[in-house]
Amino acid sequence: MKSRPFLTNIKTLRERARLHIENGAVTSGYKANQETVIKLLNEALATEIVCVLRYKRHHFMASGLNAQGVAQEFLQHANEEQIHADQIARRIVQIGGEPNFSPEGLLTRSHSEYVEGMTLIGMIEEDLIAERVAIDSYREMIGYLANDDSTTRRMLEEILAMEEEHAEDLASLLKELGS
Ligand SMILES: [Fe+2]
Ligand SMILES: [Fe+2]
Repeated sequence: MKSRPFLTNIKTLRERARLHIENGAVTSGYKANQETVIKLLNEALATEIVCVLRYKRHHFMASGLNAQGVAQEFLQHANEEQIHADQIARRIVQIGGEPNFSPEGLLTRSHSEYVEGMTLIGMIEEDLIAERVAIDSYREMIGYLANDDSTTRRMLEEILAMEEEHAEDLASLLKELGS
């Protein structure tokens, strides 16, 4: 079997790193399509922001309904979606893009919807649906990135794991509430 060099030789690596230093973390070895990744991440950012807003609304409405346990769960999810939004925004900047925080078009960029929900059960169901949308869209993004941008992929894998936990929490709440 013909042996294949394991790494680019050191001289070439060093020379390549000196080119385009204005690109920061994005080196010539970055294999993904930067523009596409930034667009996908901005959609994910919009999704997370819409989720924060929906969970916040649900948190305050559930508090009014005297459902403290559920209200607390909504608040915790809102805070975790906010952390996801921040992680995604940071990564967008790191790969040379700009995070889109504009309220204009937010719902169009977002994968999940903003549904207020009429009852406590209705709110939990809407949140579960949104989590399920997020789970599938993150799974697709992870598949798309594969080994072309493993840092972004790993970040999305961590976020996906948490969305799965959220979905599980909500499904358990629905069961407890007997629906
Ligand atoms: Fe999230
Ligand atoms: Fe979530």
